[in-house]
Amino acid sequence: MRAVRYTRTGGPEVLELADLPAPAPGPGEITVDVTHAGIHFADVMFRRGQFPVTLPAVPGLEVAGTVAALGAGVHGLRVGQPVAAVPTGFGGNAERVATPAATAVALDGPLAGLDPLHAAATACNATTAVGTLRGAARTGPGDRVLVLGAAGGLGALLGRLATAHGAALTVGAAGTPERAAAAAAHGYHHTLTYAELADRTAELTGGQGFDAVIDTVGGELRGAVRPLLAVFGRHVVIGNAADRDTTLAANEVWYDSFTLAGYNMGGVLSRRPDLFRAHLAEGLRLVADGTLRPHVEEIGWDGVATAHARLEGRTATAKYVLRTG
Ligand SMILES: NC(=O)c1ccc[n+]([C@@H]2O[C@H](COP(=O)([O-])OP(=O)(O)OC[C@H]3O[C@@H](n4cnc5c(N)ncnc54)[C@H](OP(=O)(O)O)[C@@H]3O)[C@@H](O)[C@H]2O)c1
Repeated sequence: MRAVRYTRTGGPEVLELADLPAPAPGPGEITVDVTHAGIHFADVMFRRGQFPVTLPAVPGLEVAGTVAALGAGVHGLRVGQPVAAVPTGFGGNAERVATPAATAVALDGPLAGLDPLHAAATACNATTAVGTLRGAARTGPGDRVLVLGAAGGLGALLGRLATAHGAALTVGAAGTPERAAAAAAHGYHHTLTYAELADRTAELTGGQGFDAVIDTVGGELRGAVRPLLAVFGRHVVIGNAADRDTTLAANEVWYDSFTLAGYNMGGVLSRRPDLFRAHLAEGLRLVADGTLRPHVEEIGWDGVATAHARLEGRTATAKYVLRTG
């Protein structure tokens, strides 16, 4: 089968097209014949060696296609059924991938109208958006919500989802005026640059600050957003695109009367697969009914390295999805 592979960590140039043996499903797994595969920021993080990775590696954390085979003990899915899945062991940028059955949702019944392009574009990020806002940020009616990295793949979903949960104010922040303008297409009430946040927060929030700040970015912003939080506001850490963390003494949470929260998709899957699947199904349903509207660009095999370079270079304004056929 065709697959994108890297045999050493490094820049996008380490990605190569390879001919690999197709995987077979292990116990509790299915294999999926992949028609569409999202290119995800986590692919970039592992490819550049930000996290330990077993080499050679095939990237790809979100796919859509049809069930190829069922492993031992798998029930409730059938061969040939259209599915979206989140292969948490990666490998989705390939014509076939093995994934825990718990990460797959059938694209029939209430999800019959969801095309595989948009399913692959959102399987991971819609799950994350739902898990983040429901589980960690606990956004609800009247909340004032700030999203960092608002022009990115998650940013494209979080603002609209917060509004669907009843948020009174959603603000999307991005690195440059151009990217803030791009984020405006994602349904935020206001979009700003990071540099404008300190001056504009009081005016936008009626002097109260944000009830929730969703932090996909890290770096110096991780500390800079603290004064933007309302009393009892939630600082929700769900990513580290800048590849720089910060330190926090627990006493600061006490002194500043805020909540530090987090969401990690893999962690939720390993401990609460039922909750993971519920978030995946809800996220995809929200894409199917138009509540969430990712801006998607389809690419071919030769476009994967360019997509990585754009994600890493902060020039992506679409979610890139590999079409395998
Ligand atoms: N917790 C989880 O389970 C989970 C699940 C999915 C994703 N994530 C994480 O969430 C983050 C965002 O994912 P995504 O899919 O939205 O990615 P994306 O589409 O590439 O967006 C990343 C955003 O981060 C911002 N950014 C700031 N500094 C950056 C830097 N040094 N390099 C690259 N981007 C930078 C970029 O916007 P500006 O240039 O405008 O700042 C960009 O919009 C990633 O860290 C990802 O790993 C976590």
